[in-house]
Amino acid sequence: MIRRLLYRSRQAYEFGTDDLLRLLLAARRYNGAQGVTGLLLFREGLFMQLLEGARTDVEMLYARIAQDPRHREVEMLQIADGVERMMPGWQMGYAQAPQIDGKDVFSGLVTDAGALQLLARAGDRSSGIAATMRGFLAGEGAPPAPGVATR
Ligand SMILES: Cc1cc2nc3c(=O)[nH]c(=O)nc-3n(C[C@H](O)[C@H](O)[C@H](O)COP(=O)(O)O)c2cc1C
Repeated sequence: MIRRLLYRSRQAYEFGTDDLLRLLLAARRYNGAQGVTGLLLFREGLFMQLLEGARTDVEMLYARIAQDPRHREVEMLQIADGVERMMPGWQMGYAQAPQIDGKDVFSGLVTDAGALQLLARAGDRSSGIAATMRGFLAGEGAPPAPGVATR
C-alpha cells in the first residue's frame, strides 16, 4: 500500500532557478534514500507537491516540509492510499505551468517531460489527486484562502 499526499503552498520569496534547483537536488537525494517519489509543480509563485511512499515516510517528510521557511500557507489538500505509485522512478519530478496568460514561461528549469506524461495518463480510481494536479498546472481554480476547508 502506498500513501499519497498532496499539498499546496506559496513561495515565501521569489524563487530563482538556483533556489529551485538546490531544493530539487536535495529533495531527490533524500527521497531516493527513503523510497519516496513524487512530483513538484510550480505555477505563479505557488507550489503543489505530491509525495508518495510508505505511510510513515510520507507523513514524516510532510511534517518537515511544512516547517520549511521557504514557503508559507502550506495546506494539505488530499491524502489517499493506493496500490501503485503515480510517479514510479521519480524521486521528485518537476513541472511548471508552460504558459501563463497565453505566454510561454521559462524559469530556467526544464519540466521533466516523462513525469508530466505520467501525470497526463494517471487515472483517478482512488482519489482526484491527478486531476487536481493537472488543474493546477492549467491554472484552474484560484487557491482558497488559508483556513478554508477543502475536500
Ligand atoms: C516546496 C518544497 C518542497 C520540498 N520537497 C522536499 C522533498 O520532496 N524531499 C525532501 O527531502 N525535502 C523537501 N523539501 C525540503 C525540506 O523542507 C527540508 O528542507 C529538507 O528535507 C531538509 O530537512 P532538514 O533541514 O530538517 O534536514 C522541500 C521544501 C520545499 C520548500
